[in-house]
Amino acid sequence: MGNKVTAPAVKARKGGAKLKMVTAYDFPTARIADRAGADIILVGDSVGNVVLGYDDTLHVTVDDMVHHTAAVARAKPSALIVGDMPWLSYHSSPQETVVNAGRFVREGGAEAVKLEGGRKRIPMIEAVIDAEIPVMGHLGLTPQSIHAMGGYRVQGKEAQAAYELISDARALTDAGVFSIVLEGVPNVVAEMVTSEVEVPTIGIGAGSSTDGQVLVFHDITGLGAGGYIPKFVRTYAQLADDAVTAIEAFFADVDSGAFPDDSETYHMTDESEAILRGMAFRAASHILADEDMGRR
Ligand code: KIV
Repeated sequence: MGNKVTAPAVKARKGGAKLKMVTAYDFPTARIADRAGADIILVGDSVGNVVLGYDDTLHVTVDDMVHHTAAVARAKPSALIVGDMPWLSYHSSPQETVVNAGRFVREGGAEAVKLEGGRKRIPMIEAVIDAEIPVMGHLGLTPQSIHAMGGYRVQGKEAQAAYELISDARALTDAGVFSIVLEGVPNVVAEMVTSEVEVPTIGIGAGSSTDGQVLVFHDITGLGAGGYIPKFVRTYAQLADDAVTAIEAFFADVDSGAFPDDSETYHMTDESEAILRGMAFRAASHILADEDMGRR
């Protein structure tokens, strides 16, 4: 683990060494991400899909997010901890957004928050930054807009839509975000946003031109429960399969009696065992004697 990463340090990495971000949702995944050298740990609302078993992120609440963010924070990572604000936690008013963002920091230990959307979120973003909480933007395929987008679709494929997205990125930067996630957009759009804004872009399904990359922990490690894996995911391990193999081996050892062996077993001293056996023998003798005397 290295020096603590801060939001200003992330911002200062614009155009420098690529930023490496990964999601984590609890103490062990945060420890693993930090040991691997993450610059940023995103406690993503993807927790809804990969940990809580929902079909989308719309069921995730602020309480869920604060609970998971606090578990990540207890790992005391060097990486910057960014908490993902869930659907409806930053949609009604700047005041309510600040209260919810404040819960991520005060109760969850987050050091920044992320929220999805472009220009229409500017009043909320400004209010949170005004409350001294750094904000990461998120543009392109924003999963909380699944119904408005008509499904998880690559965004900015048409020139006008791409132009709007670039304008959104400029507006977010002017509002003071310290970085922007670009998800599910064509490479050229990510490239244009990246050269257009002064803050680092972090891509997921946005090609190779961004200032950094992010993937979901369970996708990288093969810890998912199966199901659809998007084209932009690269899976580097098969931890779910390894876990099944490990647990099957445990069950086989239970069946055969090979588990536990002597080294996995607690023992008494020979002396204590002899005393115990004597006590048990005497107790059994009394019971037999009582039975003989008709007292039982
Ligand atoms: O919730 C999440 O995991 C995210 C990333 C995919 C950027 O928002």
